[in-house]
Amino acid sequence: MAWEALDRRTAVIEKDAPAVLNEAVREKIRSFFPRYETKRAALLPALHVVQDALGHVDWQAMREIAEVLELKPAEVFDTISFYTHFWTHDKGKKVITLCRSLSCQLMGADAVKAAIEKQLGIGEHETAADGQYSFVTEECLAACDHAPCLLMNEKLHRRVKADDIAKMLADPNNDRLDLPRSDLFDAPKPPASTSESNPNPEP
Ligand code: FES
Repeated sequence: MAWEALDRRTAVIEKDAPAVLNEAVREKIRSFFPRYETKRAALLPALHVVQDALGHVDWQAMREIAEVLELKPAEVFDTISFYTHFWTHDKGKKVITLCRSLSCQLMGADAVKAAIEKQLGIGEHETAADGQYSFVTEECLAACDHAPCLLMNEKLHRRVKADDIAKMLADPNNDRLDLPRSDLFDAPKPPASTSESNPNPEP
C-alpha cells in the first residue's frame, strides 16, 4: 500500500497554499458530472484524472477535489485511503505492483518479491533512489490463471519468475501496452504550443 506514515498532529495543508489543479483538470472532472446523479459519484474518476495529471493526490489536491465535488476533504481522503492505487506522495516513473494473493503466492510470488527488492535495493512501498521505480504489492490482479503476475504501470506481466526480474527491469519498454487502452480518465493534455499548431508562423 502506497502510504507514508504521517504525524497527524502536524499541519499537512498550508492555509494559503497555491492551487495545484489547473482549470483544464477541473474542467475534465466537471465533464463527468452529466454521467452521474450526484457530484460525489464522480470522485473516483476525479482521483484518476488528478493522479494522472500530478503523479499523486496530495493533501492540497484532496482539498481542491473536495471543492469541485462539493464534499469535505475528509470524504476525499476516506476514498483515497481505501484504494492502494492512489498515491498521496510522489512515486517513481514506473510502479511495479506485485500480486500478493493466494494463487500467486502458491506459484512463487515471494521469490519474485525478493528478486525485485534485491534488484532495486528497495522494500515494499519504497521508491528507488534514481526515481525510476516504486514497488508495491496488492491483492488479486484478476489474472490468477497467469500466476504469479505483476503490473508494470498498466502492463500485466504473466507467469513471472524470479530469474526474469533483472531482464525485465532492463527493458525500457517493460510498461508498453500491447492492447489499446481507454483515455477516459487521462488528464487533459496541455494545449499545443504556437509553433506546433502553426509550423509556418508569420514573421
Ligand atoms: S491471485 Fe494473483 S492475480 Fe489473482
